[in-house]
Amino acid sequence: MSKSSEISGFYKLSIEERVKLVKGFVGLTDEEAALLQKPSALSFDVANRMVENLIGVLPVPLGVAVNFLVNGKDLIVPMAIEEPSVIAAASNAAKIARKKGGFHTTSTDPIMIGQIQVVDVQDAHNARFEILARKEEILKKANDQDPVLVSLGGGALDLEVRIVETFLGKMVIAELLVDCRDAMGANAVNTMAEAVAPMIEEMSGGRVYLRIISNLAVKRLARAKAIFAKEELGGEEVVDGIVTAYAFAASDPFRCATHNKGIMNGVTAVVLATGNDTRAIEAGAHAYAARSGHYTSLTTWEKTAEGDLAGTLEMPMAVGLVGGATASNPIAKLAVKILGVKSARELAETIVSVGLAQNLAALRALAAEGIQRGHMSLHARNVAISVGATGHLIDQVAEQMVAERKVRVDRAKEILAKLSTS
Ligand code: MEV
Repeated sequence: MSKSSEISGFYKLSIEERVKLVKGFVGLTDEEAALLQKPSALSFDVANRMVENLIGVLPVPLGVAVNFLVNGKDLIVPMAIEEPSVIAAASNAAKIARKKGGFHTTSTDPIMIGQIQVVDVQDAHNARFEILARKEEILKKANDQDPVLVSLGGGALDLEVRIVETFLGKMVIAELLVDCRDAMGANAVNTMAEAVAPMIEEMSGGRVYLRIISNLAVKRLARAKAIFAKEELGGEEVVDGIVTAYAFAASDPFRCATHNKGIMNGVTAVVLATGNDTRAIEAGAHAYAARSGHYTSLTTWEKTAEGDLAGTLEMPMAVGLVGGATASNPIAKLAVKILGVKSARELAETIVSVGLAQNLAALRALAAEGIQRGHMSLHARNVAISVGATGHLIDQVAEQMVAERKVRVDRAKEILAKLSTS
């Protein structure tokens, strides 16, 4: 029998109990469970091979969001993030979504774009046709670079050529469309772009400059949708409030940057936990949000005929399961195992489900009660820890500050001093 990820009171368990529960849920080995509890599972040896000039490692808290039901499958979702409230909010939104069947997702094939920039072309339109006429030759050269990817059913599938007007004049931009299968794909795409560049240069009669992947991955999209029942949200007024908040974000870039940031709280946390490139995803997300020329919301929110709330999220999601930190960081590997995803597409679809949940949670809090109330108690715990509170004193100091509505370091010090002497 498959297990449910709907686990109430998960946050009340000790860290050991949580690990035990996750271990049982996904079938971790004793070694894997032990690794999770090591403050730094990333050895200097491995880290030193990942970056240059290493002097240390920066641990980030790793939590799990519970309650996720994605395409009928129960998931526990690892999230690496330093911000309080995010994991609790995702779990809470996922719990609400379950009541109406959870998240339903789709995605495109994992196709990335590799750009080859050609300048100093006398006759740009003629050059464009020249390049397109020899497409098969170019694709063959690209695919010769990565027989493994091709054997897995991926590789360069198509070539498009655009003419871009710049302040330096017309440029011819050839774009390789590469199916990256379960890799993020930057290495494969960049290698292919570099390999075909001399052919394209010769065909165009111009000069090639850049040969690089585009993070605006419009051909590698992931989509999630969910219905949130009005009674679970706090009534139809809250539904209307969320739609109103969305309308504000959809039309105003100042609000929208924060709205999309809330989505990225969930998205980036899973991207980081699974060892993927957070910058690539962030760049793609915001560029996609601005693709019409007007920066807008990545999500949509509408009221259904029944008065419930329907949400969607569509965004580029260039994540992989092979290569990069996903392969070299042992905790990232464990995060993938905890998620139980078997392909990059499945991972991408799970991530957008979390992004949608995160946005719902933020808008609901903003529309219903203001964000500070929920945030305050978690923030208070951090302030308490920052002044040296440990064990049960953390909660006592935090609770008192929240009750007094004075969540400040100076007050935390005073309360701690008093409690420590009493
Ligand atoms: C905070 O990290 C994210 C929010 O500001 C998002 C939002 O305003 O929608 C709560």
